[in-house]
Amino acid sequence: MESYALEMIDIVKNFPGVKALDNVTLKVKKGEVHAIIGENGAGKSTLMKVLNGVYQADSGSIRIEGQEVKIGNINTAKSLGISFVFQEINLVPTLSVVENFYLGELLKNKFHMIDWHTMTRNVKEALEKINFTLDPKRRVLELTVAEKQMIEIARAVSRNAKIIVMDEPTSSLSENEVEKLFAIIRTLREQGITIIYISHKLDEIFEICDAATVIRDGKTIETRRVKDYTEDLMIEQMVGRSVTMEFPQRTSKPGEVIFSAADICRKNKIYHVDLELRRGEVLGLAGLVGAGRTELCETIIGAEKMEAGEIRIFGKKTKISNTRQAKHNSIGMVTEERKETGLALDFSVKQNIVITNLPKVAWKGIWLNAGKEDRAAGEYIEELNIKTPGMNQKTMFLSGGNQQKVVIAKWLFSDVDILILDEPTRGIDVGAKFEIYQLINKLAEQGKAILMISSEMNEIIGMSDRIIVMHNGHKKGELEKDMISAENVMRLAVDTEEE
Ligand SMILES: Nc1ncnc2c1ncn2[C@@H]1O[C@H](COP(=O)(O)OP(=O)(O)OP(=O)(O)O)[C@@H](O)[C@H]1O
Ligand SMILES: [Mg+2]
Repeated sequence: MESYALEMIDIVKNFPGVKALDNVTLKVKKGEVHAIIGENGAGKSTLMKVLNGVYQADSGSIRIEGQEVKIGNINTAKSLGISFVFQEINLVPTLSVVENFYLGELLKNKFHMIDWHTMTRNVKEALEKINFTLDPKRRVLELTVAEKQMIEIARAVSRNAKIIVMDEPTSSLSENEVEKLFAIIRTLREQGITIIYISHKLDEIFEICDAATVIRDGKTIETRRVKDYTEDLMIEQMVGRSVTMEFPQRTSKPGEVIFSAADICRKNKIYHVDLELRRGEVLGLAGLVGAGRTELCETIIGAEKMEAGEIRIFGKKTKISNTRQAKHNSIGMVTEERKETGLALDFSVKQNIVITNLPKVAWKGIWLNAGKEDRAAGEYIEELNIKTPGMNQKTMFLSGGNQQKVVIAKWLFSDVDILILDEPTRGIDVGAKFEIYQLINKLAEQGKAILMISSEMNEIIGMSDRIIVMHNGHKKGELEKDMISAENVMRLAVDTEEE
């Protein structure tokens, strides 16, 4: 008999208007790294929240190492040895690593005093166990996303986790950090810990996972050993049909310059960057994570203070000191952190889409026109294939990838001439990416200028007319269409020459 660390059998979970899980079965062998893959809204995160005790399944059963269990809340999950490393990390930023490790359960010594010494030593040891070094006295707010993840993993291990669930852990990590995470995952596997790994990046699945389960529309399609899968088969099972992974071609050619930035500086972040954007063009902004791409764009749209530099829009010198002025000057930015800056989670899908351009759906620019609002929202929901029971659903109830689609819809609707997209397909499934590329092309063909930040090499190469590469806040070079290649981008991105 096979020995399973976890069996989730015939799990059903309904939300109002949504059948999120429709008899899902997931069987994970002990000590393997098991991927769950599927389209945006397929039910991956929901299934894991059932395992975590955040949601109660309507029916179905869960077995841990063969024993049937009821998981009524997060504490039960923890005591069963199930730990979660979510993307939205639950550490308290103002506290130190040690304090976070022992949050709510600080160790006391025999004099009933807080035993910092032992706690610090334990944390160090826990980090060593996963081959990671970091000063436990540092405050969490100074740490990178990757470091925070490592802490969560170390904390899970120190609590004797048997199963660690990682839901899209690499989406904000640099390549180096991903390699480090994978090294840690391999260490955990050697220690017999079972890992459940959710990601839209299929190359990661092939690199790190032993088995994969495909979920579609809340149903299990199949579980196979990864070596018995091909990328095409995975995609076909995820989407329910075969899809081409080619980048769609644009027919338009770049026109006149409508935006230029000269000598842009931001304190300690951006140094003397120049760029020009043409009508109908997609300009790629490449670089490693931390190269300053987001920081540059934040400065351009006035979200952060520009220390020096000049911006011209349609040839006219323009001062932009906040995002409202940016909008007024026809610049918009689809942000990377959708929850922080991109969406009002408490508002409906419709409200989020139309908010940036109310005059467009208002009568004489004053009275909101419900019919127009509905039509506009309806069109985008269809065009981007946003999975929601209706346009009045609060965006907080959408899956991660579908929330990202709402952010994109919002800026498509806004009708700005200059659109900055920061990692537009982060968290988007392989099939839906294609739809987003097509929309980007459509915007370019309408004469808009697009500045696209992307860490995915294929994407930036496949979509850009021109590429600017950054490193450490400096512009390292610019590649015209015929010079665009992965080698050329990488060569500039890792450039360590004096800046
Ligand atoms: N609390 C909730 N209330 C209503 N609907 C919900 C809730 N949570 C999830 N859903 C719905 O359940 C479905 C599955 O969502 P889930 O978040 O599990 O998808 P996912 O596979 O993780 O997708 P993604 O790849 O986009 O993260 C979606 O249609 C989502 O909108
Ligand atoms: Mg999800």
